[in-house]
Amino acid sequence: MRLVLLGPPGVGKGTQGRRLAAERGWALISTGEMLRDAVARRTPLGIEAGRRMDAGELVPDEVMIGLVRDRIAQPDAARGFVLDGFPRTVPQADALEQVLHERGQSMNVVLYLTSPESELVSRLSARRECPVDKRAYNLVTAPPKDGRHCDDHPGVELVQRADDAPETVRRRLEVYRRQTAPLIAYYRDRGSLKDVPGDGSVDEVYRALKRALNGAGNG
Ligand code: AP5
Repeated sequence: MRLVLLGPPGVGKGTQGRRLAAERGWALISTGEMLRDAVARRTPLGIEAGRRMDAGELVPDEVMIGLVRDRIAQPDAARGFVLDGFPRTVPQADALEQVLHERGQSMNVVLYLTSPESELVSRLSARRECPVDKRAYNLVTAPPKDGRHCDDHPGVELVQRADDAPETVRRRLEVYRRQTAPLIAYYRDRGSLKDVPGDGSVDEVYRALKRALNGAGNG
């Protein structure tokens, strides 16, 4: 099973993708996490990408396409994968189709998560993540048990992502509308898009997501 989670910043792609991939034994391919890892290790990619991420801009298509091409070829992706954060532009979507075609594969379904923008902004301002396992918490909707530290890594304090600063969130939403939202029509025209309401609780959204997968014949 190969699927894409499409949707704006803060809609819950990472939260839902992590849960779905763990439950089904599929690889979770999060391009945002791959880039943040490169930033933390201060690799040449990380140094270049970090500047763009901090500004709320996208990393160039050719860099992202190369990263995803290599990642899809890893053994753990053979059973299936969930793409979180890729594709994000039409050239990336075209390249993904080509990469899969070369491998004799295709994308099974694109799940499009939606939520009002006010909800996205408030979720992102309260997001905190564990620097060890990258799990996302939310100070309002999904706080850690003691309010400050990761539930699974005692003593590890949660951190706020640099690009969750309010002005960067505004920029990310603009970039989403301009560069990523055209993928909604792109995939709808191909008949592979399923709409999933993303504004209920995490459990409600997860159930809706699984219903959409069932509807696509892939539950
Ligand atoms: P990336 O990490 O992909 O960021 P994003 O798409 O902006 O998405 P987020 O991670 O912010 O949100 P999410 O939808 O995963 O929500 P989450 O589950 O965390 O990319 C970061 C940057 O990397 C980009 O800006 C770009 O620079 C670069 N990049 C990455 N991929 C790229 C590509 N392909 N091309 C070019 N550049 C690329 O949830 C958010 C919060 O809400 C959390 O606190 C969570 O606990 C909470 N929450 C989740 N669901 C619910 C719910 N149902 N109810 C209440 N709270 C909820």
